[in-house]
Amino acid sequence: MAATPEPMLLPAVLRGDMDGAAYPILPPRNADSAGGLLSVERDLSGVDGADLKATWDARLGSREFPYRSGVWRYRELIAPFPDDDIVSAPEGNTNLYCGEGINRCPGCRIGGCRLANWAGVERLALKHEGENPTASFKDRGMTAAISHARHAGATTVACASSGNTSASLAAYASKAGMRALTFIPEGKITAGKLGQTLAYGAQVVQVQGDFDAAMTLVQEVAATEPVFLANNINPFRLEGQKSIVFELLQQRHWVAPDWLVLPGGNLGNTSALGKALIEAYELGLITKLPRIATIQAAGASPFAQWFERGFDHYEPMQAETVASAIRIGNPVSRHRARRIIQRTGGVVLALPDAELLAAKRQIDHAGIGCEPASAASLAGIKALRERGIIQPGDDIIGILTGHVLKDAEATERIHITGADARPPIVIEPTLAAVQRVLADG
Ligand code: F0G
Repeated sequence: MAATPEPMLLPAVLRGDMDGAAYPILPPRNADSAGGLLSVERDLSGVDGADLKATWDARLGSREFPYRSGVWRYRELIAPFPDDDIVSAPEGNTNLYCGEGINRCPGCRIGGCRLANWAGVERLALKHEGENPTASFKDRGMTAAISHARHAGATTVACASSGNTSASLAAYASKAGMRALTFIPEGKITAGKLGQTLAYGAQVVQVQGDFDAAMTLVQEVAATEPVFLANNINPFRLEGQKSIVFELLQQRHWVAPDWLVLPGGNLGNTSALGKALIEAYELGLITKLPRIATIQAAGASPFAQWFERGFDHYEPMQAETVASAIRIGNPVSRHRARRIIQRTGGVVLALPDAELLAAKRQIDHAGIGCEPASAASLAGIKALRERGIIQPGDDIIGILTGHVLKDAEATERIHITGADARPPIVIEPTLAAVQRVLADG
């Protein structure tokens, strides 16, 4: 087998959102001089898109560190860290369900994709980021952030979280031999995510307040204490998450979809996926720029409301939704996400919890499964189709952000106690009892 191509480690700088200044990637910093966020910027003028595709294609199937990771395969556009600083599980390499053929499911070969039919569209695929090592898309950003922390010599890392970032940080910090603190809203994350975080050995700090209060607190902690902040304020988190786009484009042989639809909470993912699409387009890896649709829960929809007002008068809100992962009232990445929506001709939509849960039920019953926040993608596709914004023949990718096992409480609510639920039944251990169950259909 041919050797894996050597990386072109493109130097990167951090560009301030507010002051426009360039900062080095070390020492790590969380804001520019005017308090704006920082984004990774690199000079792509000398990069040949065809060479990059060939390099990435040659790494497919590699068993070598770090290229077997579905993040570090795209290393040139992720981070210029040396091998020794990369902390990888490995992550990524997630499935793209259905799609390709019109209304047909090449994976299962049965045909007539139920989920596409339900949403009223013909060409739909779902990329399941719940298939990452800690069962959410967060691992893609976390491998990059913790590698940045190692590059910086950090020994303590922290984040605020609605649960998934917390579990991911705990796992990667453990691999890197770092101390991890996660700040979560007291009593507001699922038992599964809390259990995962504790199991991986992090110190959980329950904050008496909501996610937004925990986020404000951890930023204050990182500004005054020797603690590396691993929220999506860390610019390399977003670089890692960009690999969702690179990987799905590669899975589709570099044919861009018309739409990319995803849930929105703190809006790091909208920012990251948009940045990746723009880079892929500017490098000629794809020939059109897909539109991004960000879907929020109605009870946690400050970004959707801002969009409705033509991005005038932003107002945070007190968030409440069954989708605890996106129960966020003041998303920190809203400005960069706004630029992405504007640049891609995207849309932002808020949907009631009932629609998220109805979509989750469909995804679960299709044998794919996801947590409630992830179901916003399919719910959004259906709603955008009904509103005539998505056309029936559009080529659509929905992102499923977290695994069905992340939220057993929601599973119970829909599949055990909910209307049309099929709860488990108890029988005597006899053939006759089983025959009665079979006869019931
Ligand atoms: N879906 C899931 C399953 C999530 O956990 C999150 C965010 C999102 C969607 C929204 O992504 O914030 O980039 O817009 N969870 C964060 C956390 C906030 O702490 O785990 P976003």
